[in-house]
Amino acid sequence: MIQLKLITASTREGRKGPTVSAWVLELLKQYQDIEVEHLDLKVINLPFMDEPHHPRLGKYTHEHTKRWSRTIAAADAFIFVTPEYNYGFPATLKNAIDYLFQEWQYKPVGLVSYGGIAAGTRCIQLLKPVLSALKMVAVTESVNIPFFTKYINEDERFVSDESLDRAAHAMIAELIKWHGALSTIRASSMH
Ligand SMILES: Cc1cc2nc3c(=O)[nH]c(=O)nc-3n(C[C@H](O)[C@H](O)[C@H](O)COP(=O)(O)O)c2cc1C
Repeated sequence: MIQLKLITASTREGRKGPTVSAWVLELLKQYQDIEVEHLDLKVINLPFMDEPHHPRLGKYTHEHTKRWSRTIAAADAFIFVTPEYNYGFPATLKNAIDYLFQEWQYKPVGLVSYGGIAAGTRCIQLLKPVLSALKMVAVTESVNIPFFTKYINEDERFVSDESLDRAAHAMIAELIKWHGALSTIRASSMH
């Protein structure tokens, strides 16, 4: 069983992130080998990174960090659902990432971005070097949703189309592949 954590990155009032995440979560139900947990950063509610030591040391002093560490350590793979804010990724996502170090390592991540004409692709490109610093593997097949509000109906539900569904399945297939390779690395004594 693959333990997959889907992280909803946006936290602002009136955000659309959970609407997009709900679509991905629904789609993930088709995968019997994947156990999914939704981590909504608004609910997790981490303060700005306030640990005195480098996360590499794992010497966490705050209960919120220890809890976040346990949650992320238990994951085999991730999906980040993120908007593009000013051509970048939201500070809430960077903050949640920066709290930890080893917990992220050698784990694959699928990126779902949404925005206007650029579909959040600029934010994804900026996110990749951050993820590589943590030895995460961002799978090539990302899901980038342009003019995403057109997929949200009057009931605030995200109604995808065939090409978005196909992109999401392709991303999940890659996550499964990389999980196989990276869990071997994690099982060895390399880190
Ligand atoms: C601070 C801020 C910056 C934004 N910058 C961009 C941007 O660079 N590119 C883009 O496509 N949309 C941008 N938008 C529009 C967002 O795509 C849209 O507001 C979306 O709903 C944000 O996701 P959220 O609702 O989950 O917060 C921005 C929105 C906010 C609030």
